[in-house]
Amino acid sequence: MTAQLIDGNALSKTLRADVATRAAALTARGHRPGLAVVLVGDNPASEVYVRNKVKACQDNGLHSVMDRFPAALAESDLLAHIAKLNADPSIHGILVQLPLPAHIDSHKVIEAIVPEKDVDGFHVANAGALLTGKPLFLPCTPYGVVKMFEAHGIDLKGANAVVIGRSNIVGKPMALLLLEAGATVTICHSKTRDIGKHTRDADVVVAATGRRNILTVDMVKPGATVIDVGMSRNDEGKLCGDVDFDAVREVAGYITPVPGGVGPMTITMLLVNTTEAAERTAQG
Ligand code: GUN
Repeated sequence: MTAQLIDGNALSKTLRADVATRAAALTARGHRPGLAVVLVGDNPASEVYVRNKVKACQDNGLHSVMDRFPAALAESDLLAHIAKLNADPSIHGILVQLPLPAHIDSHKVIEAIVPEKDVDGFHVANAGALLTGKPLFLPCTPYGVVKMFEAHGIDLKGANAVVIGRSNIVGKPMALLLLEAGATVTICHSKTRDIGKHTRDADVVVAATGRRNILTVDMVKPGATVIDVGMSRNDEGKLCGDVDFDAVREVAGYITPVPGGVGPMTITMLLVNTTEAAERTAQG
């Protein structure tokens, strides 16, 4: 059996059309959604991500500003800039692209963003609320993956789900969302003794490590749903995921490609969160 492809570009197109409609309605009422993207330093991967985020705003009628700073920026200057964005009524979402240079404490920076503008969902108030209640924003990548499950009617109730990776950005919130949806969740990571032992029993695998071929065909149960969050470049500079796609697609039930899978969904959910933030402001 060849897996059914979960097309992140196609799903994004539908969801972005809805965002554009909502953004136009807000703009007509004088509340055009606005996103501030902050980039410190010149990490080439971050530059691409940030450019794509700003372009997606422009394409869908959102206001966006991109604030670029040199790698040597003092932490205090970054905190002062965030304070300015917190107070700016034309900005509803603030995104500080990670990773930050080593001399800047990223926790401190994220906590400086007011939770109402934390469209990444990384602030401790939103992360804590994800654990215990209702966060203002869900982190964009796991939120996008949930939308992919929904769009394909993939039922998570009672499913065995394995998340590979334990980052604050993807792995941990992904595991919580799967748990919330009724899955039995296992989190594997770099210290896990035998990842395949867990994934072979999984109905759903989400790979989010940034390590190529962390999930090979011998590790996948026939018919399983395989979501590839990984993004890295191989020796030829080609964009790759975490999954050995060509082999795994022959046994999986559903699979996401890289590129064109989770990547566009992350940006789409950022637009959704920013629009939602503007709607809350408009409602007062
Ligand atoms: N770096 C990698 N992914 C992300 C993301 O979703 N948000 C931010 N702010 N930085 C990232």
